[in-house]
Amino acid sequence: MYTKLDYVKEAKNHSQLRALVDSDPYRLHFHLMPPTGWLNDPNGLCVFNGTTHIYHQYSPFTTGWGMKTWGHYTTKDWVHFTECEPFLFPDIREDKDGVYSGSAFVKDNKIHFFYTGNVKHLDKDYDYVMDGREQNTIEVISNDGFTYGEKICHMTNDDYPTDMSKHIRDPKVFEVNGIWYMILGARSNADKGCALIYRSLDFASWEYHMRIETEEPFGYMWECPDLIQLDGKWFLICCPQGIAQQGIDYANIYQCGYFAMDLNLEEKTYKIHKFYELDRGFDIYATQSYQDEKGRIILLAWMGIPDADYHNEPTVEKGWHHALTMPRVLTTKNNRIIQQPLEEMQALRTSSQHKQFHQQIELPAMDCFEVELNLQNCQELTIQIAQDIKLTYHQQIFTLQMEESGCGRTSRSVALESLQHVHIFVDTSSIEVFLNYGEETFTTRCYRKDITCTTSIQTNTIGTCTWHTLGSFQIDHQ
Ligand code: FRU
Repeated sequence: MYTKLDYVKEAKNHSQLRALVDSDPYRLHFHLMPPTGWLNDPNGLCVFNGTTHIYHQYSPFTTGWGMKTWGHYTTKDWVHFTECEPFLFPDIREDKDGVYSGSAFVKDNKIHFFYTGNVKHLDKDYDYVMDGREQNTIEVISNDGFTYGEKICHMTNDDYPTDMSKHIRDPKVFEVNGIWYMILGARSNADKGCALIYRSLDFASWEYHMRIETEEPFGYMWECPDLIQLDGKWFLICCPQGIAQQGIDYANIYQCGYFAMDLNLEEKTYKIHKFYELDRGFDIYATQSYQDEKGRIILLAWMGIPDADYHNEPTVEKGWHHALTMPRVLTTKNNRIIQQPLEEMQALRTSSQHKQFHQQIELPAMDCFEVELNLQNCQELTIQIAQDIKLTYHQQIFTLQMEESGCGRTSRSVALESLQHVHIFVDTSSIEVFLNYGEETFTTRCYRKDITCTTSIQTNTIGTCTWHTLGSFQIDHQ
């Protein structure tokens, strides 16, 4: 267990850690990071009375995998944020080894949070997959997003189908036609990844409804499932583990992507289509979406990945690790998900320039910036960002390549029939690339020697280039 009191006591001894973290030139300017320590999945995303709440998996005082609380930021405009005290702590028997990932659902002026209480038995040796672990589905109800009443345990291992392993987690709750559904990521005891759906008619008791799986196994575990509708079409976004690399596809250790689906929830019938990677970069995992007050579906992800063999990441010795991606708006085209940067990020622009160019253009030295290229009949493209970070388009393959700056990240690619538009966001230690208005994206951490860098662009064709220097999020403390 790790209670709020434990946290408050520990935080008192860590003012130096905070100073160390704040001294790191790789602290990001327009991404949410752990104030100190470790961050993973975004959790509990919601808007409540005009305020957006962003929670995340958070181990405040370690840069490695530790005891999980829920860290917390709020914002009204995605540029000014408040860093709040951690929200949830593992302080009951049913969640004693970590308050794992979960979601929020706003109903009748209250926020209902559903999450996984992780429990590990220590009385003997277990594999913690088939045995020795409890994954409890727990709800807390909040009037304000900062406090909550008692923890209500809805489901324990006994409530999951009998052919399941002990890995069932990450509840996401949503409503369709006046019925509430909860989707959970799961691993069967035959090592087949799937998603379980529970249902509630009264928003108080939950019953098992159905499962979603592929005919042939697609990985052994699906983490962080999110079942959403975009333009009336269903998509199951999830993170399958255990998929072997195939050429340039599935190059990361674990995948983060989606299946388009034909789904009738009431009748429990579905057809699941091909899996696509949501992002082709090195650092993308555990996405979560929510709908904002304008009706937009906004997605955040952990800009990291578990168990990757990236190494010597310089932020670790500065007392912090990982960050969230920029917020992205989801839409759809031809049964694929399109991701676009949230419009509100434009408020970060501090200066802008626009030029037409023929075959090449060199941008002035900048540290945090955004570049937009419009290209006509592009066959070849090289964008050199810093000495060893390169984006190329060659023989209809778009590639992100890094050497030293990648700390073990080398090359990731995607096949792209044509390339008309490239939109890049460069922060002090991350890059996000949106191709063809969000048809493909690449997200990566990178640690260039000189944060201030001169980008040069070469191509076979003509184009226009717009670039903006970018300012920083303003983060106040609660
Ligand atoms: C995904 C994940 C989730 C789990 C959480 C624990 O990164 O493994 O499945 O709930 O992280 O921090």
